[in-house]
Amino acid sequence: KRILLLLAAFSLLLSACGREDLSVLRPQGPVAQGQLDLMKLAITIMVVVLLVVFAIAAFVLIKFRRKPGQNEIPEQVEGNHKLEIIWTVIPLVLVIILAVPTVQQLSALGKDYTKDENALQVKVTAHQYWWEFSYPDLGVTTAQDLIIPTDKTISFVLESNDVIHSFWVPSLAGKIDTNFDGTLNKFHFSAPNEGVYRGKCAELCGPSHAYMEFKVKAVSQEEFDNWVTAMQAPAVLPEDEQLAEKFKSACLSCHAVGDQGGPLGPNLTGIGGRESIASMLLNEREGQEGAPVEENLKEWLHDPQAIKPGNEMPSPAELGLTTEEVDAIAEYLADYKLDYETNSAD
Ligand code: CUA
Repeated sequence: KRILLLLAAFSLLLSACGREDLSVLRPQGPVAQGQLDLMKLAITIMVVVLLVVFAIAAFVLIKFRRKPGQNEIPEQVEGNHKLEIIWTVIPLVLVIILAVPTVQQLSALGKDYTKDENALQVKVTAHQYWWEFSYPDLGVTTAQDLIIPTDKTISFVLESNDVIHSFWVPSLAGKIDTNFDGTLNKFHFSAPNEGVYRGKCAELCGPSHAYMEFKVKAVSQEEFDNWVTAMQAPAVLPEDEQLAEKFKSACLSCHAVGDQGGPLGPNLTGIGGRESIASMLLNEREGQEGAPVEENLKEWLHDPQAIKPGNEMPSPAELGLTTEEVDAIAEYLADYKLDYETNSAD
């Protein structure tokens, strides 16, 4: 009964890990697949060892138990070369079976793609509590939604702006730390299937660590090229001139849109088309539950600390913005979408 309860609890735990876009158990790329294969191999070996040891222990307990009327001490045996060799060689063989694919994977993971001309180079900079993605060869910087083509290896160089974070997209690859002392970590993966994969910060980094999510959006090469072109276009500012001035003075001192603004906060180019606002407020779109992007932007802008405690975004009062101005900026940003998705039905 207890074992059944335990099994039920365990399967519940596994099913909680079962979200397709956030699961190491449902790999969507070769790196994650290789790592899952290794886990399966290790678990299989462990289970077999466990079963054999338990079976032998049960057999010994039953076969050599003290029988009624048996009062003399049994024959005492010491040393058995044959047995000792067997129980040394078997673990050795098991360790070799584990070690060979592990070392192979490690060396494949350690391969440097930063000079590979066929790979897409991406620089990841982690901030409390958001992700900056820049494409040095394309002159493009974005935040929170990492857009990548499906048919290329993505080569990452990672660092942090403040404390140690960890970059993790469970369905694409294992995690890697981002350091703030200038040490650059290198990493790579590929995502051959189009789709949106959730990423998480996997290193406790402050009060909003749990809200430090990002998305990886794998698209066709054509869509990726369209996106890059749209990102390289000049900034689209609010049509209303007064609002444009407000937006420039209040927002563009930290944030950038198109070719204008600063690099301190997340780049806002095309923010209206992103998967979520401030990581956790999901935007309504096909196949995804969420609120309209405009509502999410308003919720975020009116009280950023309520969504992500400890973040660097000032409140409207600190920025000198009225409720109406915040609403107008939210509406403008919600409309700031990049038209890059090719519809295969067209
Ligand atoms: Cu960044 Cu946890």
